Amino acid sequence: MRNSGVLAVVAILAGIGVAQAAPPPQAAQCAGCHGHNGMGNPAAGFPALAGQPVKYLEQQLYAFKHGTRRNGMMSSFAGGLNASERKAIAEYYHGLPVVAPASLPAAPKDNVGETLAIHGVGAGTDHAIPACDSCHGAGGRGMEPEFPRLAGQPANYLEAQLLAWQKGARNESNLHLMQKIADMLSPSQIKAVAAYFAAQPPAAPGQ
Ligand code: HEC
Ligand code: HEC
Repeated sequence: MRNSGVLAVVAILAGIGVAQAAPPPQAAQCAGCHGHNGMGNPAAGFPALAGQPVKYLEQQLYAFKHGTRRNGMMSSFAGGLNASERKAIAEYYHGLPVVAPASLPAAPKDNVGETLAIHGVGAGTDHAIPACDSCHGAGGRGMEPEFPRLAGQPANYLEAQLLAWQKGARNESNLHLMQKIADMLSPSQIKAVAAYFAAQPPAAPGQ
C-alpha cells in the first residue's frame, strides 16, 4: 500500500513536470483561434494542434512563413517566428493532451469516407488510393514522426486542405504524398472523407 502510494505521488509529480512546461510567449495569441487547450475551434473551422507530431507542426509553421502553404491568417502569425521559436511552439502543442470534445458531428450515413479511410479504393489499378489510416494511424489518430491526426478536426478544415493540394495552395515537400492522393479524390469523395474524419473521436495515437 505504502509503496504504491509513493509511486502514485512520483507519477503525479512527473506528470505535473511535463504539463507545466511554460507556454511559449506566442501561445496567448495563438489561443484566440486554436483554443487555450490547443483543441481548435470546430465551429470556426480552426484546427486543433494539441498532440500533433512536433515535426509536423514545425514544418507547417515553416511552410506558412515561406509560402509553400498559403493562408492569409497564418502567414502573418508564422512570418515572425524563427526556427527555435517554431520548435518551442511545436513542442508545446505536441505536449498538450488531446481532449475529447463535448460533442462530435454525426458520422455520414454512407460508407464512402469510411472505406477510403480504412481500406482505400482501387487497389491494383493505376488510380489506387491508399487507405488514409495506413499513414494517419488507426482511427485517423495520427502517427509519429509526421503524420497528423485527422480525427475530430473540423470537416470544413479537412475539406479545405484537400482542395488546397488540388489547387497547389499547399505544396509540402513530404515526397508530395498528399498532393498525389488529393489529386485522385473526386469532390464527393473529399466531402465524404472529411465528414468521416470529423466524426471520429480525437485521441492521441495508441489511446
Ligand atoms: C486569427 C486566427 C488564428 C490565429 C490567431 C492563429 N492561427 Fe494558426 N491557423 C488558423 C487557421 C484558419 C488555420 C488553417 C489554415 C489553412 O487552412 O491552411 C491555422 C493553421 C495552423 C497550423 C496548421 C495546423 C495543421 O493541422 O496543419 C498551425 C501549426 C498553426 N495554425 C499554428 C498557429 C500558431 C503557433 C499560432 C500563434 C503564433 C497561430 N496558429 C495563430 C488561424 C489562426
Ligand atoms: C502515404 C501516406 C499518406 C496517406 C496514405 C494519406 N496521407 Fe494524408 N498526409 C500525409 C502526410 C505526410 C501529411 C502531412 C503533409 C504536410 O506535411 O503538409 C498528410 C496530411 C493530411 C491532411 C492535412 C491535415 C492537417 O492537419 O492539415 C489531410 C486533410 C489529409 N492528409 C487527408 C488524407 C486523406 C483523406 C487520406 C486518404 C484518402 C490520406 N490523407 C492519406 C500522408 C498520407
